[in-house]
Amino acid sequence: MRRRVIAGNWKMYKTLAETRAFFTTFNPLVANSKHCDIVVGPPFTAISTALDSVKGTSIAIAGQNVSWSQDGAFTGEVSAHMLAEAGCRYVIIGHSERRQLFRETDDNVAKKTLISLESGLTPIVCLGERQEDREAGLTEEVLGRQFTGGPGALTPDEFSRILLAYEPVWAIGTGRTATPEIAADAHAFLRRCAGEKFSIRHASALRILYGGSVKPDNIQGLMAQEELDGALVGGASLDPKSFAAIVNFE
Ligand code: PGA
Repeated sequence: MRRRVIAGNWKMYKTLAETRAFFTTFNPLVANSKHCDIVVGPPFTAISTALDSVKGTSIAIAGQNVSWSQDGAFTGEVSAHMLAEAGCRYVIIGHSERRQLFRETDDNVAKKTLISLESGLTPIVCLGERQEDREAGLTEEVLGRQFTGGPGALTPDEFSRILLAYEPVWAIGTGRTATPEIAADAHAFLRRCAGEKFSIRHASALRILYGGSVKPDNIQGLMAQEELDGALVGGASLDPKSFAAIVNFE
């Protein structure tokens, strides 16, 4: 049985004071939640405050992005080594907002994943099709391409240390969640890709999170699908009560 992961992606929200206030409410609500791994991805500026706020709990902190380079003259970038040294255990890579708004490619995603693994971080590699891809019947083609160019470029050992997040772009921040069945189909496809590229053992151990308008009132239906190993939550992770309700789905 794969251990579930519920991860929050705060995007460009929350000051230091808001970060502290979030965890003051959130921590007691999940203090007895042992059924899943809990991850929160604050903006870079709030990482150290978040880490202070979760000391003594099992909540892990994630970076929302990372550079593909170890160090160098890359204004505005943050390296995997810096995130690991700061205390992050996870990093979100290839989010559709990064792909669409900041022109990240599958090749960037592969490089970022590799350098994050070298620093001991667990990458949460995001992929997902756009509305027009789905309407044109291209969902599997797009997912297959993103898989092959990103996580599929790793060695089997490296691949066994990452998480995938299936995030259909049409469901992110739109209030339109994929039905549990649509999500499960996409997860099963990605698991088949992992089986073909690596092995059945790799495929069955792979944890795939679903992301896109996950809320307290739809998490149970999503988690009822065996294919879904957790959730990557945007908007609903900003409110401590709603994120705790998602964490406590069972
Ligand atoms: P959402 O975002 O939950 O607000 O749809 C999900 C994500 O972007 O990871």
